[in-house]
Amino acid sequence: MEERTLTDGTVWLSRPVESDIEAIVECCQDPAIAEWVTIPVPYGRADAEYFVRTRSAEGWAAGSPCWAIRLGEHDRLVGTVGLGVRPSDEGSAEIGYWLAAEHRRRGLMSRAIALACDFGFDSAGMGLTRIHWRAFVGNHASAAAVRAQGFRYEGLARLGSVLRGSRRDHWMAARLNTDPPGPADGWPAGV
Ligand SMILES: CC(C)(COP(=O)(O)OP(=O)(O)OC[C@H]1O[C@@H](n2cnc3c(N)ncnc32)[C@H](O)[C@@H]1OP(=O)(O)O)[C@@H](O)C(=O)NCCC(=O)NCCS
Repeated sequence: MEERTLTDGTVWLSRPVESDIEAIVECCQDPAIAEWVTIPVPYGRADAEYFVRTRSAEGWAAGSPCWAIRLGEHDRLVGTVGLGVRPSDEGSAEIGYWLAAEHRRRGLMSRAIALACDFGFDSAGMGLTRIHWRAFVGNHASAAAVRAQGFRYEGLARLGSVLRGSRRDHWMAARLNTDPPGPADGWPAGV
């Protein structure tokens, strides 16, 4: 898949590279990321090397882009966002992301999600029909971020996901290419 840097002038999304490995290791020491994202714990340099050299590289080759989030085109990585496509269903992708703790609550992930969705739905990008999201129950920050970008709540999957060997409930939501991008209605109270 053709690599493209996406930007709205505040955040830049580009493919993670070797020089991002140290920043990824540092960011992934944060227990708040380990609590909600299925990264290895403890998270070491070999994990970040695998992420950059294998997982992200294979993802790009297979049509599942994964971007580093930067605050300038060539700046240090402050997070990641990706769209994962299953080979059996190329019209749909799952979105996943995390952001370094010191950059949260400034609207940056909302911007990154918006850029990834625009690229995902664009016929000149991935031409997707649907982008779906799931998060372990209780991840209100993640729910707020996708809700703000037009994802509609679709339910709760009981013991639907595994986090390091332990099954947990997850929330589900999705945005279709026909849904408006702004904040979505219809989310239940408490999600
Ligand atoms: C989830 C995460 C990426 C949000 O990033 P962020 O840059 O802080 O999000 P934004 O600043 O763009 O905020 C988006 C919305 O979420 C809300 N929000 C952010 N953090 C929140 C929190 N801790 N509790 C409740 N709402 C929160 C914001 O108010 C905003 O809502 P609004 O548009 O209605 O005002 C970040 O908290 C994170 O990396 N968490 C750990 C990893 C993780 O959970 N990844 C997702 C796994 S599914």
